[in-house]
Amino acid sequence: MLASDKHAFRTALGRFVTGVTIVTTRDQDGKAIGLTANSFNSVSLDPPMVLWSLALGSPNIAAFRHSRAWAVHILSADQEDLSNRFATRGIDKFDGLDIQDGPEGAPLIPGCAARFGCRSAFEYEGGDHAIFVGEVLDLSDSGLQPLVFHDGRYGGVFSGEKSALPAELPDRGEFGRYFIGHLLNRAYHTAFVGLRREYQRRGLRSSEYSVIVALGLGEGCARSDLIQRAANGGVDLPTAAIDGLITRGIIMADGDRLHLTGEGRSLLTELMAVAQAFQLRLEDGLAPYELSQLTALLQKLCNLESPSTASR
Ligand SMILES: Cc1cc2nc3c(=O)[nH]c(=O)nc-3n(C[C@H](O)[C@H](O)[C@H](O)COP(=O)(O)O)c2cc1C
Repeated sequence: MLASDKHAFRTALGRFVTGVTIVTTRDQDGKAIGLTANSFNSVSLDPPMVLWSLALGSPNIAAFRHSRAWAVHILSADQEDLSNRFATRGIDKFDGLDIQDGPEGAPLIPGCAARFGCRSAFEYEGGDHAIFVGEVLDLSDSGLQPLVFHDGRYGGVFSGEKSALPAELPDRGEFGRYFIGHLLNRAYHTAFVGLRREYQRRGLRSSEYSVIVALGLGEGCARSDLIQRAANGGVDLPTAAIDGLITRGIIMADGDRLHLTGEGRSLLTELMAVAQAFQLRLEDGLAPYELSQLTALLQKLCNLESPSTASR
């Protein structure tokens, strides 16, 4: 394949995993300038030097060419929004940020994983980019987890330990912080407690809630299919829950098929809206890559055979 195929070239470059940085400086009028860049790399240890490259078409090219100092901020895992903001042309990127300068004289972005304050040392030609090399004068390292960029998407790093349990537990009570069964149990309660409160408030038990959810808003289904559908979601449906809901007029039997009644449908619609609100609240606390990772890992765990079923 020819490297002149721009799309193929970009796609292949995207296979390389990088961190994400924001490079800042001040222009000749003292105005704060910054942009998102992942072209950052180390150059030399002694003297300490780093590089990054800037598109020649950037409106900030003159500012970096004339500046004597710039700083590279390695973004931390929760700074995805900041990365997007500093990759957007024509907005006030520093809006709402408390702009202080680092010791080298370039604006400082707080909350980063690490920061390199540099004296501008060299500029090289690099096709449609200018390559800037700086000597690192000031360094700070917060130890925060970095943001990762790969294939045009953000991600995070996880160190691969064979066991989540530390070699020595400081206290027996600490076990719950590492044992996956305990963590899942606690996470389940945190994630589900609000929704449970809501269906209980509507006079439903867990098993009845499961029947309504498994029945869904569709065409209804046979009793045996309903039980199978719930089992696929990991729930054993007691037939008493089905019969109780029929008596209360929330579901009805039409021959062999079970349906939600009108009342049942509006109850489910209401509960789905409540569940969605709780889901959004949970999603709010997670970065997109954490969310997709969590979902994939939970699905994987659900498909693992439990030790009791495996030995049967
Ligand atoms: C993850 C990521 C990495 C980027 N890396 C670079 C880079 O190394 N060099 C560059 O010139 N632009 C890079 N960009 C694009 C710039 O951030 C974007 O063009 C921005 O508008 C530049 O700011 P400016 O228009 O104010 O100069 C990157 C964007 C993203 C999202």
